[in-house]
Amino acid sequence: MNNDIERVLYSQDDIKAACQRLGAEITRDYVGKKPLFIGVLKGVIFFMTDLMRELDFLTDIDFIDVSSYHGGTASSGEITLVHDVDTDISGRDVVVVEDILDTGRTLAYLQKRLGERQPKSLKVCTLLDKPEGRTVEAKADYVGFNVPNEFLVGYGLDYNEYYRNLPYVGVLKPKVYGK
Ligand code: XMP
Ligand code: MG
Repeated sequence: MNNDIERVLYSQDDIKAACQRLGAEITRDYVGKKPLFIGVLKGVIFFMTDLMRELDFLTDIDFIDVSSYHGGTASSGEITLVHDVDTDISGRDVVVVEDILDTGRTLAYLQKRLGERQPKSLKVCTLLDKPEGRTVEAKADYVGFNVPNEFLVGYGLDYNEYYRNLPYVGVLKPKVYGK
């Protein structure tokens, strides 16, 4: 698996430091508010578990599963809701947690869909932000790293469902996806 990686962008230590920084920032903003954290499956699971353990306040967790990739390295553009949250979010402070913000379509979809349910507030935390990928307007309130416009895998990010379990974020060798 490691042989398929061209270079490591963020090591386990880099990611840990980013989780600690974001956790401290979010703790400052939300202490005493009991916000709900909604992770966007599946890519977010590694980041979500590490981030949540850096938060020093009462909070609950839910997940939403949306899919925009149907294999390959480019978003299909069409968002499908695979699994909705179980929690009633009306009147709640909500933080959506994402692995990566790329075209912005997933986030725009979630902000619309969750925003309709009248949360008290709705903010977004993403580990990775790829600003060059943006095709629709979308902005995260908390960002771990700004990343170059390359296809990334590891720490939750997949190529055809593989590589999620790499402990770091890396650039996949183009030959792996047939370029
Ligand atoms: P959009 O384009 O909707 O993307 O902002 C959000 C979702 O697309 C996936 N994504 C990636 N997955 N490597 C991946 O493995 C990437 O470089 C990449 N860029 C986007 C990701 O699931 C994210 O939630
Ligand atoms: Mg995702």
